[in-house]
Amino acid sequence: MTTLPRVHLGYTPTAATVAKVSTQAWRTDWYREGGVEPRPVLLQHVAGAAGVVTVLTHEVDDEFLQAAGPQLRVVANMAVGFDNFDLAALANYGVVGTNTPGVVDAATADLAMALILAAARRVAEGDRFLRTGVPWSWQPDMMVGMDVSANRILGIVGLGRIGMAVARRARAFDMRVIATGRAASDEPARQLGVEPVSLDSLLRRADVVSLHCPLTAATHHLIGREELEVMKPGSILVNTSRGPVVDEQALVDALQTGKIMGAGLDVFEHEPAVHPGLLELENVVLVPHLGSAGDRTRQEMSDRALRNVAAVLAGERPQDLVTPIA
Ligand code: DGY
Repeated sequence: MTTLPRVHLGYTPTAATVAKVSTQAWRTDWYREGGVEPRPVLLQHVAGAAGVVTVLTHEVDDEFLQAAGPQLRVVANMAVGFDNFDLAALANYGVVGTNTPGVVDAATADLAMALILAAARRVAEGDRFLRTGVPWSWQPDMMVGMDVSANRILGIVGLGRIGMAVARRARAFDMRVIATGRAASDEPARQLGVEPVSLDSLLRRADVVSLHCPLTAATHHLIGREELEVMKPGSILVNTSRGPVVDEQALVDALQTGKIMGAGLDVFEHEPAVHPGLLELENVVLVPHLGSAGDRTRQEMSDRALRNVAAVLAGERPQDLVTPIA
């Protein structure tokens, strides 16, 4: 009798995912407590698995791969970002790593746009104000913000699929778009009217800077004190990429002094912790890493991760390979 390989999901799946895995050519188990599996439990459950589906808070490192054992063939991240993968360790252990590109683009771009508009038009501040119960009436100068559609410039740092989706939305709001990144000089960007620029030029010119680069050694603190200093006075910073791309203390200082008008943040340098200085500021809109938190998007991320697992276990090249081996 042959034993089917086992796949472990490091999170509690939806009913739709449970139905899907029941038809696969493997056995599946998963974390049953709701949400994301804590590391000590995950390390126990990955032992003996041929495939594991991880989320962005699971560090896939030497300890993880050691705990899993030599039969492990694939780790499928349910995220487009894979900065939680130690790629060298995966290569050393001969394990394939995959991610979920494409399916998060629209949802993440929608949230970036929501943060741009919320920071520019002081939406969260207005909401907090009303909840205080303080008497108010309409005033010509009450909570006046930035008209993004008044020919304002959006600077997209790291133009890729998500950045292009943000650019399309921004164009619909009559914003001009400038961008850094390889795709900024490509035909689709040109057709959208995107102007390719250097990071320095983008920071000096943009009314709104939106970050869309992956987190790597090169992008850690890409936006630090010096970069915030050259940003246009009164501009806005939006981050839906990864928290450590921004030096959070430097951002707090720039917001406190009024060097920049505001920020919209979906991600944090020491996530899930939020810098206490940010929590005290009125000119910041904060949401808890919701970029891909759309009902269809989250299901598509899970489906895509499972397709990658299925491909590797069937001896095929997975669609979303991030490691050098397949
Ligand atoms: C991703 O896919 O990397 C997102 O950050 C998840 O929300």
